[in-house]
Amino acid sequence: MAILGAKTFQNYIRGEWVDAISGETFESTSPANGDTIGVFPRSGAEDVGRAVAAAREAYEDWRLVPAPKRGEILFRFGQLLSEQKEDLAQLMAREMGKVLPEARGDVQEAIDMAYYMGGEGRRLFGQTTPSELRDKFNMSVRQPIGVVGVITPWNFPIAIPSWKILPALVCGDTVVFKPATDTPTLGERFVELLAEAGAPPGVVNVVHGGGGEVGTAIVTHPDVPVITLTGSRETGVAVTRAAADRLKHVHLELGGKNAIIVLDDAELDLAVEGIIWSAFGTSGQRCTAASRVIAHEAVYDRLVSRLVSEAEKLRLGVGWEEDTDVGPVINKSALEKIHSYTEIGRDEGATLLTGGEVASGDGLGMGFYYRPTIFGDVDPEMRIAQEEIFGPTTAVIKVRDIDEAIQVSNGIKFGLSSSIFTQDVNRAFRAMRDLKAGITYINAGTIGAEVHLPFGGVKDTGNGHREAGQAALDFFTEWKSIYVDYSGKLQKAQIDTAE
Ligand code: UN1
Repeated sequence: MAILGAKTFQNYIRGEWVDAISGETFESTSPANGDTIGVFPRSGAEDVGRAVAAAREAYEDWRLVPAPKRGEILFRFGQLLSEQKEDLAQLMAREMGKVLPEARGDVQEAIDMAYYMGGEGRRLFGQTTPSELRDKFNMSVRQPIGVVGVITPWNFPIAIPSWKILPALVCGDTVVFKPATDTPTLGERFVELLAEAGAPPGVVNVVHGGGGEVGTAIVTHPDVPVITLTGSRETGVAVTRAAADRLKHVHLELGGKNAIIVLDDAELDLAVEGIIWSAFGTSGQRCTAASRVIAHEAVYDRLVSRLVSEAEKLRLGVGWEEDTDVGPVINKSALEKIHSYTEIGRDEGATLLTGGEVASGDGLGMGFYYRPTIFGDVDPEMRIAQEEIFGPTTAVIKVRDIDEAIQVSNGIKFGLSSSIFTQDVNRAFRAMRDLKAGITYINAGTIGAEVHLPFGGVKDTGNGHREAGQAALDFFTEWKSIYVDYSGKLQKAQIDTAE
């Protein structure tokens, strides 16, 4: 594990690669085997200050670059990501741990976003509308806001930065980006490719380092009016507080405790497949992961035994081997947190059906592996059914009917994704209406959002904003309403006249 030979990386500010002012560094290591992936600058408030100054200066010209031209840079970026897809996926399997098919999907999501947002360069539609007065023209246009602070997690190290940075850029904003300290190499590659695609100096800047130093400095900087964060509920609350004094625009995408409902008429094979994919894909480390299963009593026993046998077939291993089903979790403290919930579930009286232990042995070496874990006989109020574990653990809850299923699904503080397996169109439509979540899937698991629809959740999952789709544009622009009076006289809105 010697860091000898590990590559040293820098921040990217004003189009130049630079060290942290302190000269301090931190390492990125692989959760799969402990290898050092790279050495990164441990930056602080002063580095952020320089990056913000660069982004602010660059903004003055970037906002005037015609949006279709900004879009063309995104198209080139999408092209570069496509060319680099396999290399980035291999790097992701090493730096973050996810298995190759999913790592390729993570990159593909960013490619999709690049093309989608690139196209927005020729849309960014506003509205025109009649005036209540004669000889007067009314319209609304989107305008960029300024410097956007982008703080991203490690679980989608290419996709999530793309959801935030690409719409910001096409809208005419500039960016200071802090990638997660668990995946700085992927954050660095992202920015390097954007620069190669033609983003001018200062338009995108990357500052590496921890949330306490770099994150806080971005959030409190007076010249960063917009903050977008995907992270924990606790961080979201702290960011909101820190940004409040300056009335910053804050977009938050926080936790989930998503459930898959399986009704008595469900196509059971399909439901089993959907649950296994949604609960254990990305080792359960998605905000959208299915950490609860709500099963109708008529199918509960059959479903549980099928789930246990499928979970036990999953092969743990390093993400870059093609026959691995489940990779490691991100780091030691995640592993400990996940295991602590197994203890909590046992103490609460749930039945541990499979898993529930740290996995070691053949080929797993120094990595952080946890066995896919299923609890049965779970009460909806138990902590394992209420709190986000962010690991390969799911809790199965038995219900009598669809009313109870919906009530249990909604009975949590989060509201990101939701799902129901049923063949009955009436019950499907009830679920679409009544599940309190930003996303509802019918006859599919809880994961797999596409980039051209809004992404985000209700209740404690967020603060009312959405990313992706057209909704993203609302966060990265401000509306301006414009009234053009060509009557040649002073016309007064809302004032009664003789006419
Ligand atoms: C997340 O875990 O924050 O729908 C994002 C999905 C992915 C994105 C998940 N497209 O599961």
